[in-house]
Amino acid sequence: MTPTVTLNDGTALPVIGLGTVQSEGEDMAATVTAALSSGYRLIDTALRYETEPGVGRAVAASSVPREDILITTKIPGRLHGYDEAKESARTSLDNLGVDYIDLLLIHWPLPKVDNYIDTWRAMIDLQKEGVVRSIGVSNFTAAHLDRLVSETSVVPSVNQIELHPYFPQADLRAYHAEHGIVTESWSPLGRGSELLTAPPVAEAAAAHGVSEGQVVLRWHIQLGAVPLPKSSNPDRQKQNLDIFGFELTDDEMVAISGLERGRIWGQDPDVYEEF
Ligand SMILES: NC(=O)c1ccc[n+]([C@@H]2O[C@H](COP(=O)([O-])OP(=O)(O)OC[C@H]3O[C@@H](n4cnc5c(N)ncnc54)[C@H](OP(=O)(O)O)[C@@H]3O)[C@@H](O)[C@H]2O)c1
Repeated sequence: MTPTVTLNDGTALPVIGLGTVQSEGEDMAATVTAALSSGYRLIDTALRYETEPGVGRAVAASSVPREDILITTKIPGRLHGYDEAKESARTSLDNLGVDYIDLLLIHWPLPKVDNYIDTWRAMIDLQKEGVVRSIGVSNFTAAHLDRLVSETSVVPSVNQIELHPYFPQADLRAYHAEHGIVTESWSPLGRGSELLTAPPVAEAAAAHGVSEGQVVLRWHIQLGAVPLPKSSNPDRQKQNLDIFGFELTDDEMVAISGLERGRIWGQDPDVYEEF
């Protein structure tokens, strides 16, 4: 069983989950079916990825009980606002074919649109109604989080952010720790970039007799972040989950964090918009 971390609402969240941004021609239901049988219990989707139906089909067909699986989905930029956020959640429920969402996130803050507060108010109500178990955000900066909490008094359970050795986000992680927010890492492997051949990663892999991907995912675990690696390959899915039998040394952690150079795709949440 994958270890869990407890969210600020008492939910036990697995410390690693499966990402579901689809590759060309991929059958997402097959990807998620393989992941569930390998032991994944946290599945990360979004209305915008158009993978909710495939995730829902795999969950419905699985012998793993629904209550043992945590499904995360997200509200896209085009559905910010109180009524729109409720509509977004209803659409996700339909797409997934489930009667509750485990974790609902605001996908991006979109500060120029300036409507994430009303979106959040709808999510607070959806949680009270039992339609959504946990609520959180994605791509929020400390300033966005400060404003959310000062205007609504409800602290998000998670903030899902770009996080990998090229962009370790030490300050934001420290803010999360101080406020009891769990950090989730998107593109935890740097999305197949040259990160996996970087010397500190390759050297640690050789030292521990594991793959480069396992080293990077273990780095996330030791930082206290929850990585969401995407793989459609059943062998890599299993390998990515098998990261609890070794430990990186302090020196290896420092060397891997030393790869820092910034965001890979320049998606700064203060200006980046997607709808
Ligand atoms: N909140 C947000 O704004 C946001 C943004 C981006 C992503 N996300 C979430 O984060 C998830 C993960 O991010 P991502 O998909 O961008 O990138 P990623 O998980 O860092 O990388 C995925 C790529 O790495 C390959 N891979 C997987 N395991 C591997 C291993 N052990 N060794 C070598 N290569 C491996 C995969 O190929 P194969 O499939 O062939 O294994 C795929 O090409 C997404 O799927 C999504 O759920 C969220």
